[in-house]
Amino acid sequence: MRRADCLVLIVLLALLTSASARAEIPVREAFRLHCSGCHGPDGRGVDRFVPDLRALAPLLAAEGGREYLVRVPGVAQAPVDSAALAELLDFVVREMSGVEGFDGYGAKEVEGLRRRPLLDPVGSRPVPRPAPR
Ligand code: HEC
Repeated sequence: MRRADCLVLIVLLALLTSASARAEIPVREAFRLHCSGCHGPDGRGVDRFVPDLRALAPLLAAEGGREYLVRVPGVAQAPVDSAALAELLDFVVREMSGVEGFDGYGAKEVEGLRRRPLLDPVGSRPVPRPAPR
């Protein structure tokens, strides 16, 4: 293969992979793909092992709660870009937890926080986790 052909191929491959990485999927599907395996399709979680995502209001109201939600490992390390992750979290907070008037996350905010995933998520929770429903 000639060098020029090789370059064209590399550019095409790069374009293809970046296009597929950016392909947007609806937020509910993103939740199913990346979160529901542990939290369940409706976010209810599993007993005391996986927290319920339908009751995040008290956590969000606590100091450091907003940051905590992004730095929890399952969120921080989700295989989506930061804009999609912000959208996913807004969906969880507004739709699953029913928090009204929530000032949504931004991609930049999420980008900075997710770089520092929590090593001790249970111990770092700003308020004690409520008993499972
Ligand atoms: C591999 C299982 C798993 C996956 C996948 C996962 N989580 Fe979690 N999540 C947990 C566990 C377990 C916790 C409790 C903290 C910890 O041990 O990490 C948690 C904690 C949380 C919390 C904090 C809730 C609280 O009350 O403290 C939020 C919010 C959350 N996850 C959202 C998500 C979202 C959104 C996704 C998808 C992007 C996701 N998680 C993916 C297992 C998972």
